[in-house]
This record gives sequence, structure tokens and C-alpha cells, in this order.
Amino acid sequence: MKILVVGGGGREHAIIKKLKQNPEVAHIVALPGNAGIAADAECVNIRTTDIDGIVDYVKRNPVDFAVVAPDDPLALGCVDRLHALGVKCFGPEAKAARIEASKVFAKNLMKKYGIPTAAYEVFDDAKQALEYVQACPLPVVVKADGLALGKGVVICFTRQDAVSAVTAAMVESVFGKSGSRIVVEEYLEGPEVSVLAFTDGHVVRPMVSSMDHKRAGDGDTGLNTGGMGTIAPNPCYTPEVAERCMKEIFLPTIAAMNAEGCPFKGCLYFGLMITADGPKVIEYNCRFGDPETQVVLPLMKSDLLTVMLAVENGTLAETPVEFSDGAACCVMLASGGYPGKYEKGKPIDLGKAPEMAEIYHSGTGRDAEGNLVTAGGRVLGVCCTAGDLKTAVERAYAAAGEVKWDGMMLRRDIGQRALRILEKRC
Ligand code: AMP
Ligand code: GLY
Repeated sequence: MKILVVGGGGREHAIIKKLKQNPEVAHIVALPGNAGIAADAECVNIRTTDIDGIVDYVKRNPVDFAVVAPDDPLALGCVDRLHALGVKCFGPEAKAARIEASKVFAKNLMKKYGIPTAAYEVFDDAKQALEYVQACPLPVVVKADGLALGKGVVICFTRQDAVSAVTAAMVESVFGKSGSRIVVEEYLEGPEVSVLAFTDGHVVRPMVSSMDHKRAGDGDTGLNTGGMGTIAPNPCYTPEVAERCMKEIFLPTIAAMNAEGCPFKGCLYFGLMITADGPKVIEYNCRFGDPETQVVLPLMKSDLLTVMLAVENGTLAETPVEFSDGAACCVMLASGGYPGKYEKGKPIDLGKAPEMAEIYHSGTGRDAEGNLVTAGGRVLGVCCTAGDLKTAVERAYAAAGEVKWDGMMLRRDIGQRALRILEKRC
């Protein structure tokens, strides 16, 4: 089979490596891929937001199946366009991708169908939003409605923070059109859990749970990032919590999307907070998470292509989706300065890391001499699996210690919170 994967980050690298475990997969094309993915797939330099370019490519180079991984092309209707060509795809069509692309759509859906989430208000008008945050309880969370590279959410502990966040989104338009409408919501407290789930619009099959580490600095300090590392499974996701999530969140969400006439097929990502009142939805993503995928897929025992085809064909009920009992850890290596300004083009020395861990490339390229260089904020994900979390974390850090480049940055505490929770419980 010839498979197209739209995307070019660590998540796509993990998807491609997993797809390749199926002997039926003869050839994978990645659009645009990256320097690491080039070892596993043919990379063609078409941007993920160039939907016409992607469609044109597929017309000229037919594929048997397409996996559209990032949020932007999903929101722009890439799957709709490929379906129109008769190409089977993994990923939701645009109207279902709104569950991520519009926070207002997601919040209104949850309210209408009684799915637990933070209380909220929606504003289209800056003056009204500013008036509201002058008087609302603190802390408060200000969210741009549209996609904003994971940076459109500001937790405001002071009135001044809230005023600045509203002004940045609605007056200064730092997120472009994505911030012309905002959600202002109640601040929730509790541990966070990411659950990725396969769904064909009827059946939901949650994958092993995971924990992201979104802040740039150790001890969850500093700015929000796309994710500095992950572990799986998440110890806060107990069987009791999982049962409540299935009953109160996962199944009602699938039913709500069907009732709204936009059935969701693909990977639905539930960003959950386990509050004193039970699990609540912080966000939905219409796709695999990055870097959650880098710890979830290595623990998947079932064949990924078989499951993806079952999602597209609506036969997930008959398709087992199994995970191993082990644990995984992914440590992200980032460019100095990320998530702010950073330099690219720094030569990377991988040392012995590739023999010690799975290295998923997020932002890498080649210089004129063909050397591996940095090409993004998040550069590499160093991932290890083991029978237990402590060993997986130790192995991932041992391998990460091998990698060097000028200005490389990493968090030193990926997995520590999870290990403390596990210790307390034992
Ligand atoms: P999001 O992009 O919606 O995942 O938000 C980024 C991060 O902001 C989340 O992972 C949470 O840590 C935090 N966050 C978002 N909404 C809330 C909320 N209502 N209360 C507390 N923290 C939140
Ligand atoms: N790691 C969070 C995300 O993929 O949105």
C-alpha cells in the first residue's frame, strides 16, 4: 500500500514509524516531512496548509490511504477534499474539526449536551470583554477562539493580566483573526490528563492515557509551549476516572457530534482536568497530540494501519485496539529561547542516542553539506519504553544526555510529578 501522511513533526514521525510495522505498507510519502522522517518516508516539500497543492499532488501521485495529522489542514478541509477524490483518509472532515478549530463551538457543544467543562462567557466585542474581566472572579482563563499554535490560552491571576490578555487578543490581534472572538472561562484546578481516542463516529476506543508537560521550565514554570515532554500512562487516570470519562465525556461527545450533523472520525484528543467535582474537559483536539503520540503509539500492540482503516470504514466495533502494560517517556529537546525567539541551523550531534532510544524528529533539516541541523523550536523527541515509568524516564534522560547542539534546552523533570504520584499511592 502507498500511504500519504500530511505533516512534518515528531507526531508524524511516530505515526510513520508505527505504520511501517505493517508489512503491507510499501511506501509512505510525507508532506512535507523533515530530515528525520526522510529516513522512513519520501518527503515532498508541500506545506500542510497548501490544500490545493496536496490535492494536486494526490491527483498526480495516487495513494491508497491518507493520514492528515495536524490541526490546520484538518480545519481547512483537507480530508473533505481528499474524500472528494475518492481517497480513504484518517482524520475528521472540516465541520467535525471545528471541535478544535473553534473553542466557542466546543464550549457551546459541551453546554448544550451537558458535558462537564469550565463555566464560560463568549465575547466578540473588546469593550464588553474588558468590562467583564474588570469584575469577574480571579484567576480567570482567556482563550482565543481559533487555532493559535497552543499559545492562545492565558491564565490570568491578576486583573491586569486579564486586561492585557483581552487587549492582546482583541485589540492588538496578536493571534490574528483567531483572537477576534474570545472565551473567558472559570479557572479549574486538578491534575491534567490527555486521552487520545480512536473513534469511527459510533465506537470510542481510548488509547493509553498520557501526561504532557506544557510549561517551558522545570517545576511547571515559564511560558506555555507546544509540549516539552510526555509520559504514559498517566497515574491520575485511574480505572474509576476512566469509567467516569467514558460515561460522562467520551460517549456524550461522540453522540453530540452526531446530533449536530458532524460525526467525528479519526483521533479525538480529550484534554481533561480531574477536579474535585470529577473529570472536566479543558480542550478537545481533532487529532493526535504532539508529543503525546510519541509515548502512546510505542505502547500500542495493535496494528495502527488496521485500526485507522477501521475508523474510516466504520468497523471499529470489530477491531481490537490493545496497549501494552509498560510505560513510556518522551523528553523534548528544544532550541534555546523557545517558545520565544530562537535561532535555527545549529549542527546536531546525536551521539549514541539513536542506539539508546527512539528519536522522533520535530524540527530538523539539513545544511548545504547535508549535516543534521535544527530547524524549529521543538527539535527532537527522545523516547523510551520500559516495564515501569521510572526506568522509561531514566532511559530517556540517559539518551537525551548524548545529544548536543549549541543552545539546546530541555526540561529535567519530565515524569517526576507522575513518579511522585505513583510513590504516594504505593
Ligand atoms: P489549552 O490550549 O486549551 O490546552 O490550554 C493550555 C493549558 O492551559 C492547559 O493545558 C491547562 O494547563 C491550562 N488551562 C486551560 N484552561 C484552563 C482552565 N479553565 N483552568 C485552568 N487551567 C486551564
Ligand atoms: N500536546 C498538546 C497538543 O498536541 O495540543
